[in-house]
Amino acid sequence: MEIWVSQDYQSLSQKACGMIEDEVTRNPAAVLGLATGSTPLQTYHEMVEGYRRRSVDYRHISTINLDEYVGLGEKDPQSYHFFMKKHLFDKININPARTYIPNGLAEDLEDECRRYELLIDQIGPPDLQILGIGQNGHIGFNEPHTSFKSETHMIELAESTRKANARFFESLENVPRKAITMGIQSILKSKKILLLASGENKAEAIRSLLEEPPSEDMPASALCYHEDVTLLVDKEAYKKVE
Ligand code: F6R
Repeated sequence: MEIWVSQDYQSLSQKACGMIEDEVTRNPAAVLGLATGSTPLQTYHEMVEGYRRRSVDYRHISTINLDEYVGLGEKDPQSYHFFMKKHLFDKININPARTYIPNGLAEDLEDECRRYELLIDQIGPPDLQILGIGQNGHIGFNEPHTSFKSETHMIELAESTRKANARFFESLENVPRKAITMGIQSILKSKKILLLASGENKAEAIRSLLEEPPSEDMPASALCYHEDVTLLVDKEAYKKVE
């Protein structure tokens, strides 16, 4: 794992954006694996700036998102469909028909998980997968004890994850209890992985990732089995590493 420690969230985001732009410049039809949440927000903002000011061209790329809440549709402001459109897709020249996110409203959710895994194989795997990390070490919505062999599946969100994400909802009660997520094995199919972590509340997860042996107690530790992972972390998130 290659590790870059940035001064702060801003420089981390600029570095992440630079890596994405390099990928897209080298390969205009790149497949990007995308995450939601607070961490990649500034990276997406920098990408929008890059599109406007440096004419970075996204018209031929495809994107595959990691996860979506069960029960939320694309018009729901808390859905990850809505998030991606608001923060990135509506602001760059991407072809909306080539943006893929699990359908949390599918009638048959098991079938949706199978369809999505097939899609990852057909469209992807991502040339570059962007990941955030949960305080409990989750990647995508793969909570602790998820099998490293898992493919796209439905999960019960950990109570700690619902609490961490309650800031985006009116109340904790409104946070969905289930989600569809790419599995750990699905994520490991990606050709390159960029894991982003910012802030003191991620410091323990980063310490555990870097200092403890890989274990299903810590989903992100599965990344130790991938040969091309870059960890981009700011000083605050790195401060517990010896
Ligand atoms: C989001 C996702 C999650 C987040 C993680 C960190 O698509 O898959 O794994 O990356 O929960 O979230 P933030 O960035 O909000 O701290």
